[in-house]
Amino acid sequence: MSYHDYEIPAGSNSNSLLKLEGISMEFKRKGGILKALDNVTFELRENEVLGIIGESGSGKSTVARVITGLHRATEGRVIFQGKDVTDLTKTERQRMYSDLQMVFQNPIKSFNPRRKIGTSISECLCHLCAYSRGTTDDKVKDLLEDVGLKAEYADKYPHEMSGGECQRAAIARAMAVCPKILICDEATSALDVSAQARIINLLMELKDKYNMSIIFISHDLPLVSTITDRIIIMDGGKIVEEGSAEEVICSPKTDYTRELLDAVL
Ligand SMILES: Nc1ncnc2c1ncn2[C@@H]1O[C@H](COP(=O)(O)OP(=O)(O)O)[C@@H](O)[C@H]1O
Ligand SMILES: [Mg+2]
Repeated sequence: MSYHDYEIPAGSNSNSLLKLEGISMEFKRKGGILKALDNVTFELRENEVLGIIGESGSGKSTVARVITGLHRATEGRVIFQGKDVTDLTKTERQRMYSDLQMVFQNPIKSFNPRRKIGTSISECLCHLCAYSRGTTDDKVKDLLEDVGLKAEYADKYPHEMSGGECQRAAIARAMAVCPKILICDEATSALDVSAQARIINLLMELKDKYNMSIIFISHDLPLVSTITDRIIIMDGGKIVEEGSAEEVICSPKTDYTRELLDAVL
């Protein structure tokens, strides 16, 4: 199940899906310039779950926005499947951005309140996958089923659903285009603990079923350590620590990481 037809250039590491090399991001502000990202370098491999953890303002969402093309980095390169994103043609870039889908913290706000959930999902199918409107109903049903929602949820409006249900629908919409990478930016932070656990289980199931990679952005280091292969810790726009979940949790190298552990334990 894939709509993707990128060629992985010969000689590139086929396991490497996405690379950020020396990414810096500056924002002009009234009082001067704010360096939101400073020389951020990391790699995401196929079928990997990578956690990006840090306090509010540490630059996590800016990383997500640079990856998804919402911000153009001031410095550095984003490499997707061995190709520098700036070298892609317009069509290749469009295709690449449909390979990168995001799920946000507030699912209800991420839907148009006046549209039924099924309509929002099918619009995504029509727009990004060129499905005809007539053939989307079954696909919407399959997607809802994939995220554990009954077919009748297609006829509900966002406000008629719980936060957890709405987040499932947001995941279904993201999955509509068979992304290679799902970026979850504080996607479970607004949910209660049990809904949070169910959404995390769902994400892990979908990752295995569709062979996706996930970037899981959060401030909750203990939670993320239970699901990620590797963790990056960010502070002030910089990566201050990186390692396996076990390394980061069991032998944190910085006081900042220890504080992140204490803050939620
Ligand atoms: N569009 C923007 N314009 C100006 N400053 C921004 C913009 N986006 C983010 N910032 C600033 O960049 C820093 C990092 O923000 P962000 O990436 O949203 O952090 P996080 O997601 O870790 O909370 C913050 O100081 C924030 O105020
Ligand atoms: Mg953020």
